Amino acid sequence: MNVIQGGRVQACRTVSFDRVSNSVLLIEQRLLPHEFKVVGTQDYRETAAAITTMVVRGAGAIGATAAYGLAQGALAFRGTSLAKFTKHVEKVYQTLKDARPTAVDPVNAMNDVRAVMRLGTSVGEQQVLALAAAEEFANSDVEHCRAIGQHGARLIRNGMKVLTHCNAGWLAFVDIGSATAPLYAAQAQGKKFHVFCDETRPRSQGATLTAWELAQQKISHQIIADNAAGHLMQRGEIDLVIVGSDRVLGRTGEVTNKIGTYTKAVLALRHNIPFYVAIPLSTIDWDLKRGLDIPIEEREESEVLGAWGVTAARKREYIRVANPSSGARNPGFDVTPPELITGIITPAGILKPGELWKRRKDLGHGA
Ligand code: MRU
Repeated sequence: MNVIQGGRVQACRTVSFDRVSNSVLLIEQRLLPHEFKVVGTQDYRETAAAITTMVVRGAGAIGATAAYGLAQGALAFRGTSLAKFTKHVEKVYQTLKDARPTAVDPVNAMNDVRAVMRLGTSVGEQQVLALAAAEEFANSDVEHCRAIGQHGARLIRNGMKVLTHCNAGWLAFVDIGSATAPLYAAQAQGKKFHVFCDETRPRSQGATLTAWELAQQKISHQIIADNAAGHLMQRGEIDLVIVGSDRVLGRTGEVTNKIGTYTKAVLALRHNIPFYVAIPLSTIDWDLKRGLDIPIEEREESEVLGAWGVTAARKREYIRVANPSSGARNPGFDVTPPELITGIITPAGILKPGELWKRRKDLGHGA
């Protein structure tokens, strides 16, 4: 998408790769919306650390980062022994897989890269194939998001008020975004609508990232406190909810997304408001059999007990808000059951959660 920097419009991907320096280039998302900066990771360990510390975050974006990180680690190997190379690649894979547990995209992305690499018969061939496969993953992420936009735009009518949660925008993918794709496509079709961005405590990805994206794109929007959605729904001020996901179970249609999504889905059903989830194919987990088994990341309590922001002197600072002697519990994600979901917007069309398994071939499973 376009970024406006010092009055100049610049096209930018959230994640890309520099072959010359063998580094993964990432938008430093912890600085947004106050500063726009692209950083490069020097090796696969730094790439994994960038995922863990949320320099880069969002399911598709960490998927592409892991794919490039695997290629980066493979390319850094010196030697010709295929056995030693394979052992090294396994270590790189595990390090990147362990960087964050909930989103399935990094695992799916790296499995794609590994499968392509195995077609090579020498270290050199596998290194070349690794980078080509990582590029392919990144490009298909963009194409999936574009297709989500084409299918999802028809849900948006003139004058609608749309609620979204967290950031499933282009910053959460390589470009375009999943939940935002229908918004951007509808805007391109000339439709006028308004977006409410849930603030999304504790890390405030809605207030910082989604609001920044929509502002860059000149889409009418307002940030609301996480607790305000029920009130607005009750007053008829929300017509549609679209969120993203970090892992959708292909067998059950259960949807994992940023903490607070489940609450919004319950509220939406109560008020008869359609609730949609937008995902690329890399977000589908075809193996897990039940939502209870999805690993839910438990994050640091400091995120709940305070907040990061920028002072009047433009210095980034953490402010403690909560009672000094209190601790906190901080699950990062929740699971929404299929009966609360109106539809899943995929690159292959809009499906009922229960249709995923029946349509698994169209959705790339076992292809
Ligand atoms: O913790 P984050 O910011 O990596 O969480 C991921 C998300 O942004 C959301 O859960 C999002 O809605 C789905 S990711 C496309």
